[in-house]
Amino acid sequence: MKQENLSQLIEQMTLEEKVDQLLQLSADFYTKAAEEQTGPISELGLTDENIQNAGSILGLAGAKEAIQVQKEYLEKNRLGIPTLMMADIVHGFQTIFPIPLALGSSWDLEAAEKMAEISAKEAAVSGVHVTFSPMVDLVRDPRWGRVMESTGEDPYLNSRFAEAFVKGYQGTDLKNDFFRVAACVKHFAAYGAALAGRDYNTVDMSERTLRESYLPSYQAALEAGAKLVMTSFNTVDGIPATGNKKLFRDILRKEFGFDGVVISDWGAVKELIPHGVAEDEKAAAKLAIEAGVDIEMMTTCYSHFLAELIKENSIDERLLDEAVLRILELKNELGLFEHPHRGASEEKEAVILSEEHRKQACEIAKKSIVLLKNEAILPLKKEEKIAIIGPAAASQDVLGAWSWQGKMADAISLVTGAKKQGDNLLYGSESFDYFHPSDSAVDEAILLAQQADKVVLALGETEWMSGEAASRSDITLPSAQIELFKKIKTVNDQIVVTIYSGRPLDLRGIDDAKAIIEAWFPGTEAGNALAAILWGEYNPSGRLSMSFPESVGQVPIYYNCDSTGRPLETTNDEKYVSKYLDVSNYAKYPFGFGLSYSDFHYGALELDKDTLTPDDFLTVSVTVTNHSDISGTETVQLYVRDLVGEVIRPVKELKGFKQINLKAGESKTVRFTIEEAMLRYVHRDFRRQSDPGSFEVMVGPNSRDLQKAVFKLMN
Ligand code: NOJ
Repeated sequence: MKQENLSQLIEQMTLEEKVDQLLQLSADFYTKAAEEQTGPISELGLTDENIQNAGSILGLAGAKEAIQVQKEYLEKNRLGIPTLMMADIVHGFQTIFPIPLALGSSWDLEAAEKMAEISAKEAAVSGVHVTFSPMVDLVRDPRWGRVMESTGEDPYLNSRFAEAFVKGYQGTDLKNDFFRVAACVKHFAAYGAALAGRDYNTVDMSERTLRESYLPSYQAALEAGAKLVMTSFNTVDGIPATGNKKLFRDILRKEFGFDGVVISDWGAVKELIPHGVAEDEKAAAKLAIEAGVDIEMMTTCYSHFLAELIKENSIDERLLDEAVLRILELKNELGLFEHPHRGASEEKEAVILSEEHRKQACEIAKKSIVLLKNEAILPLKKEEKIAIIGPAAASQDVLGAWSWQGKMADAISLVTGAKKQGDNLLYGSESFDYFHPSDSAVDEAILLAQQADKVVLALGETEWMSGEAASRSDITLPSAQIELFKKIKTVNDQIVVTIYSGRPLDLRGIDDAKAIIEAWFPGTEAGNALAAILWGEYNPSGRLSMSFPESVGQVPIYYNCDSTGRPLETTNDEKYVSKYLDVSNYAKYPFGFGLSYSDFHYGALELDKDTLTPDDFLTVSVTVTNHSDISGTETVQLYVRDLVGEVIRPVKELKGFKQINLKAGESKTVRFTIEEAMLRYVHRDFRRQSDPGSFEVMVGPNSRDLQKAVFKLMN
């Protein structure tokens, strides 16, 4: 449909029809009987004809149902405007990929794009048009259960992943490519900084920090073309995001030039009341529409009060018209006016969970698993007698939160995966609880450990321990698992601990294992991927995208922190410096860290010049050699520190990275170029610019073990 036709369509719409476009209800509204309805849906009543025309639907999947709902919807819709179907496809539809934090740890942007492409395809054939992904919130606090949805603690890395996700979901021709879906970037803004890691909590930060660290990844997603933005539950500078005019009208729309759809998070418009900025639903509706929220998800403040607010001249009808236009434009960009069923096709649903998709999920899972420690125990050898024990050994709880359509029954457990690798396995027959294992299960595990050459002790969190509303104040492994580790160690100390988790953990209690593998939640192919790493079929290449603290008391802990006036230099002996008395300042496993079975050596860092001018660039190079006899992948990381700035600068900031494959004995020279634009940062007046002066450039395998050189930026 042509743009002018959309405007004409709006002219034909009644006030109520326009308001309907702004309402989003869950699929239950369409698929369940009135008496089964709960929440806002039950408040509406199924008899309300207008509201049955809600402009979009949340959480409907399955081609048959989607086609049916759209058909019935269009039969009732006077002007033939199709509804829009949205859902949380976060790391896969039915073929579940590693959680986003794990994808972040792959440092592999092509892998992220591939996972988004496959997710989009499976979702689109099931009738989904929009995914509520990517979530690009910067995260620094592993107590927050939603860190699993983010790619981590770094603005640069998050931005690159944000772009990759959007490209994968949307492709290049959303209107005609019905295997793609529109992407909704979330949660705008700064949801990752919820105080004390408690979900839905307040965020309080300076505008400079917001702009410097938190906003870039949303902006990157928008520049990659994301069609929608979701509001966050938190406050920003004392105003809940969903009613925050400055955030949406000034920053998002004016500064970033975003003209797509803004959708509230679930119930967030009505939550303006308990937040204490709106007296009632009517006031909440006014605040949200004025802030620029187009779609209200799952509450009915707009439905009940927008028309009234307009009739009494409390708000300008143009605000409503603008929102409707953006929603219709989105429907049009998805090709829905011409093809209301879009990709939905029962026949094409055959692609879901196909062999090819599982294969890709397995490859991507292998890339996201991080080897944290290895005291010459891994890889395992085929002929070794290996006991695979612990609560996660036979568990199919490997998908992670936000795997809506994913089924545990389709997932590969570690034991199942291991059977394809090892010839001599011992595993238990008892089911093993994550928190309260039975005595007989523990006894059996000990017995198996006694008989084995080596033990793979599979530990971790369950799915529900991370994700939304899953904050933890103690981020160690459940105490029963630590007890189990201790018991096993008394009979066999050749222990490899594997961990499934949705967040970095405090690993005290198991950190004297001979090897530790962080597998995150790897998805449907978990066991195959993890076993491939254990037995060395795949040489681990994952690198953490979020720091592992030594203890929860260090949280928030992140590599790119600001320097203090009393920095802790090297030892813990000084007293009056910024430090703890009882724990170091450092991460147990820092950002960028991960081991390989290969042995990579870095040659000297070289700069082609020591001064840089704004119209030129400087080349940094380093030669990396694989001193081992097995080929592997190394992620060479580039960091910069601005030694003197107008405002304080982080002690280091990631500015680039390159993944290289090195065969046994092979060397490769990696080159990075540095130019003035990379050295810009947010100044006091919020302008992004650079300062002439000295900079440290650092290159290495992670954010801690770096070589340094200095160069000067000239005017
Ligand atoms: C609430 C979550 O915060 C958001 O990320 C999600 O997209 C919506 N619910 C819809 O399920």
